[in-house]
Amino acid sequence: MKKKQLFMAVTFGVLTGAATMQAQTNEFVIQSHKPGAPIQPTMYGLFFEDINYAADGGLYAELVKNRSFEFPQHLMGWNSFGNVTVKDDGPFDRNPHYVRLAYPGHDQKYTGLDNEGYFGIGVKAGEAYRFSVWARLPEGGTNSSLRIELVDIHSMEEQQAFATANLTIDSKEWKKYQLILNPTVTQPKATLRIFLTSKTTVDLEHISLFPVDTWKGHENGLRKDLAQALADVKPGVFRFPGGCIVEGTDLATRYNWKNSVGPVENRPLNENRWEYTFPHRFFPDYYQSYGLGFFEFFQLSEEMGAEPLPVLSCGLACQFQNNTPDAHVPVNDLDSYVQDALDLIEFANGDVTTTWGKLRADMGHPAPFHLKFIAIGNEQWGEEYPEHLEPFITAIRKVYPQIQIIGSAGPNSEGEQFDYLWPEMKRLKVDLVDEHFYRPESWFLSQGARYDSYDRKGPKVFAGEYACHGQGKKWNHFNASLLEAAFMTGLERNADLVHMATYAPLFAHVEGWQWRPDMIWFDNLRSVRTVSYYVQQLYATHAGTHVLPLTMNKQAVTGADGQNGLFASAVCDKNKNEIIVKVANTSDQPQPLRLVFNGMKKKETLSGGRRILLQATDPDKDNTLDHPTAILPQEASIVVSGQEYSTELPPKTFAVYVFTR
Ligand code: AHR
Repeated sequence: MKKKQLFMAVTFGVLTGAATMQAQTNEFVIQSHKPGAPIQPTMYGLFFEDINYAADGGLYAELVKNRSFEFPQHLMGWNSFGNVTVKDDGPFDRNPHYVRLAYPGHDQKYTGLDNEGYFGIGVKAGEAYRFSVWARLPEGGTNSSLRIELVDIHSMEEQQAFATANLTIDSKEWKKYQLILNPTVTQPKATLRIFLTSKTTVDLEHISLFPVDTWKGHENGLRKDLAQALADVKPGVFRFPGGCIVEGTDLATRYNWKNSVGPVENRPLNENRWEYTFPHRFFPDYYQSYGLGFFEFFQLSEEMGAEPLPVLSCGLACQFQNNTPDAHVPVNDLDSYVQDALDLIEFANGDVTTTWGKLRADMGHPAPFHLKFIAIGNEQWGEEYPEHLEPFITAIRKVYPQIQIIGSAGPNSEGEQFDYLWPEMKRLKVDLVDEHFYRPESWFLSQGARYDSYDRKGPKVFAGEYACHGQGKKWNHFNASLLEAAFMTGLERNADLVHMATYAPLFAHVEGWQWRPDMIWFDNLRSVRTVSYYVQQLYATHAGTHVLPLTMNKQAVTGADGQNGLFASAVCDKNKNEIIVKVANTSDQPQPLRLVFNGMKKKETLSGGRRILLQATDPDKDNTLDHPTAILPQEASIVVSGQEYSTELPPKTFAVYVFTR
C-alpha cells in the first residue's frame, strides 16, 4: 500500500507511465545511499588508428596525396604533363624526392601536374584553402610563375577551373611559398592543378593544400567536423596510434613515433599495413605521411580534455602475419625499442632542457602534456610477449615510476592465449590489461556479467577495442549498437576494475574502408555519427562519479535468464547531485520498469529529471551520410516526485534516466 502511494511518477509525451502496463514489472532497486567505486575520469574514451583512411584522407586535413613524392611510385596520385622529371636530392633528407618543371618546348604547350587527392579533393564554396609549396629556380634566371587551380575535371562548363591564383617563384634557394585559394563552388572531388606559366625551370617539393579553417586553427591541422565529432564525445582517454599499425606487417613498417615529430616536411613516409592486409579491400595508395603524428595526437588529447594513451611496439611484428622468430627483435636486442618508449615519455613530459622536451617546445608546446599512461604492444601473444614486455617495464618503472603501464591480453576475449596472458600480466604487475573483443550478438548478450567475478587484486581492465560484429551483418546497424550499450552496463557496474573502454575502429572513409563497423563515417565533405557513436557519447557524458548498486530480485541486471533481456547499471554524480540509471532493453517486448531508490532520507524526494532514449524503427539500419539524423538520442524531461519512478521501456531501446536529488 505504502509503495503504491509512492508510485507517483508522472511522465510526458510518449512516457505513458505505469497505467498501461500489462507485462510483469521489472523492479530495479538502486541503493542511492551507497556510492561504491569511483568512476575513473578515463572510463569512456576513444581509440584512433589510421585504418579506413582515418588519418591521411580523413582526420588529417591535408588534401594533397603524396605531397612529397615519396610513394614508391613517385608520381602516384599525380598526373604530370609536359616536361616533368622526378629528382632525389631535395632539401629534406628524409624525403629527398621532388619534381622539376621545365619549358615544354613550345609556347602553346604546357608543363604541370594534377593531384587527385584522396578520392578527390573536397572543397567548399566560400571557404579559404592554403596552398603551399617549397620551390626554387635550380638554374637561377628570372622569376618563374605558376598558376594554381582547383578544377572540376568532369565539368561540362566552359571553364573547369573554379579557383585560380598565381604564384611567383623568385629564388635560387629552396623557400616556402603560399597563397590562398577561394573556391566559388562546393566540389567533393576537385583536382589540384599546377601550370608552369613561364619558361624558367622550377623545382617543387612538399606541395600541400589545407583548409584554413581547421580544428582550433592549427596550420598542420585536423578536419574540423571530424575533430569536433571526437571532442563532442567528451572522451576521458585517447588511445593512439593503433592497433595493428603499431606492430607493422614487418618491423620496418611499424609505427615509429620518432618519425612522426619535427618539421612536417621531413617526416618520412611509412607504408600503411591496411593498404594490403585485406586483398579483397586493397588500396595501393594507402601510406602514412605522419603529418598527423605524436605531437598532433598529444595536442588533440589536450584540447579534448582526454588523457593521452600512446601504444608502442614491443619489438614483435604483427603475429598474425609473422610466425618465424626472425621477424621479431630478439629480447636481448631490444634496447633501442625500450629507449623509444623512454624518449616518448620525455617528449610528452620532459623539461624543455631535455632533448625530446626541447623538440616538443620547438614544435610549439613548451608545457608538458602530462602523460600518465603508456601501452607496450598491441595484440601480442605467446611466451615471447611477456619476455619482450618485461625489459620495458623494468626500464620505465626505474625512470618514470608514476607512469601506468598497459599490457595486452591478446586479440581474443577468452581462450588459451587470453588465459595464459592474464596471469603473466599479473606476474609482471602491469597496471592495466588491454582486452579486445570484436564479437557477435550472442557474445555481447552473454557478457553482461563478464567482469562481476574478475580478480580484484590484479591489474585493472582496459577494454581497448570492441564492437558488436553482427552475425552475418558486419556493418553498422542499430541492434549491434544496442548490444554494445547493454554490455557497457557491465563495464560501468565494475568501475572499480574497469578503468577505460574504447570502441574500435573510430573512423572510416566511405570509399576507402577496410574494416567495419566503425564509429564515424565520412566522405570528402560530410561525416555521420553512427548509433554506436551516440552510445559512446551517452556513456561518456553521463559517466557520473560513483557506482551505485542496482539489482532486480537481488541480482545485478545482466541480461541473465529471467531478466527479460534487460541490462542495467546506476551511478551517482556527486558534483551535480544526480542519479543516473542506464537500461538496455534487448528484448522485442516492451518492459515495464519500476526504479526504487532505496536509502534516501524519509522526506527526501527526487525533484525531477530527464530521460534520453535511443531507438530505431528498423534495428537493421543506422545513420548514413545522406540521412545522418535518422536515429538520434531523444531527450525529454520527466517529472518525478517521491522515491520511485515507473515507466515502460519500448522493445530494443537504450535509455539513460537522469534524476536530480
Ligand atoms: O581495429 C582494427 C584492428 O583490430 C586493430 O588494428 C587491431 O588491434 C585489431 O585486430
